Amino acid sequence: MQFSYINPTQIEFGQGKIEKISQLISKEDRVLFLYGGGSIKKNGVYTQVKDALSNHTWFEFGGIEPNPKKETLDKAILYARENRVDFVLAVGGGSVIDGAKYLANAYYHDGDGWDLLDGKFIATKALKIGAVLTLAATGSESNTGSVITKKQTNEKRFFHSPFSYPQFAILDPDVLKSLDDRQLVNGVVDAFVHTCEQYLTQPHGALAQDYYSEGLLRGLVELAKTFESRDDLWHANLMWLANQALNGLIGLGVPQDWATHFIGHELSGLYGIDHARTLAIIQPNLLTILADEKKDKLLQMGENVFKINTSDPLVVVEKIRALYSSLNIDLKISSYTEDKEITKKVTTLLEKHGFTQFGDRETIDKTVVEKILEKSI
Ligand code: NZQ
Ligand code: ZN
Repeated sequence: MQFSYINPTQIEFGQGKIEKISQLISKEDRVLFLYGGGSIKKNGVYTQVKDALSNHTWFEFGGIEPNPKKETLDKAILYARENRVDFVLAVGGGSVIDGAKYLANAYYHDGDGWDLLDGKFIATKALKIGAVLTLAATGSESNTGSVITKKQTNEKRFFHSPFSYPQFAILDPDVLKSLDDRQLVNGVVDAFVHTCEQYLTQPHGALAQDYYSEGLLRGLVELAKTFESRDDLWHANLMWLANQALNGLIGLGVPQDWATHFIGHELSGLYGIDHARTLAIIQPNLLTILADEKKDKLLQMGENVFKINTSDPLVVVEKIRALYSSLNIDLKISSYTEDKEITKKVTTLLEKHGFTQFGDRETIDKTVVEKILEKSI
């Protein structure tokens, strides 16, 4: 177990924190206020941010889509250059924040921003980023990941950059109250699967990572159980649990297995299915197929998270599937698309993106993916 660790994002957690933006961004910086399809204009967040920027020079660019599109973000880059901005303030969920990371890293690049996603370009300087989180799910507000979709080819890919850490992230749980059930459920599931991808691998004996992950998973199971009676504290817990699930901490120095995400990204790219729903569809079937190699950790999860005593890893997988069903998620791809060539398209894209042998033991190849998809369609 060897690792270097830094997470430089300053977290400002709690009600009424949006006004702190006025102090968190230098008055010298020209700010680009980046947002999505307009939810922030209905729930008062737009006005709060605007008020906090009243002593700054700022510009705005709205219309970043869920599963953010390269084509839209390229327009934002041109607009940012025209206005010589220094700082990108992302106000939204994972999509807007990921979009800000693409913009910030591609800003000084002469070529196509997509080069970041293809691994052809690595930024050596970037614009500064800040985030006001409005949807708790991805952890993007304090990590280095960014997931972007190219409309032209239906490809969804990710990149990491040290410049992608926002300088600050404002987490005001009150902002989550305008989210509908679908997006809140997405948040619980995405955070749950993020934790699993760093936990459901093989025994490694790193106690802090294991037990902290189990704490997060237990918290998320509790939120699923109390979904219908949620209150202020529920929202605050979701915001912090989702942040902790993917801020880099629990994955330090331990094996990770992001296979569910890799397959899920292709499904979102092809069919526009919500990110978290692709995970809920794929993960239980992936775990069923890989139950033997993940047996030790599945049984540990059964005991420490679900509090069940079993020697059968498939019993634990069914607990996970039941958790997603209890949140009213359709767990079949055919509920989202009528395409008859799903398996062929997904396996072709995975191969194109270099995922030919993956998983923490590198046992997932095309044949395994075909089996997982067969169960998922
Ligand atoms: O666009 P607006 O109008 O703001 O509406 C959004 C959007 O339609 C709405 N919304 C957000 N906050 C709201 C709200 N509606 C009412 N009240 C609020 N407070 O919710 C919809 C979905 O937003 P989006 O940002 O797409 O959701 P999420 O945060 O789940 O982000 C998903 C994206 O992040 C990527 C996913 O692949 C997907 O593209 N991920 C990013 C990761 C990262 N950077 O580390 C890791 C994840 O695994 C994930 O892949
Ligand atoms: Zn995710």
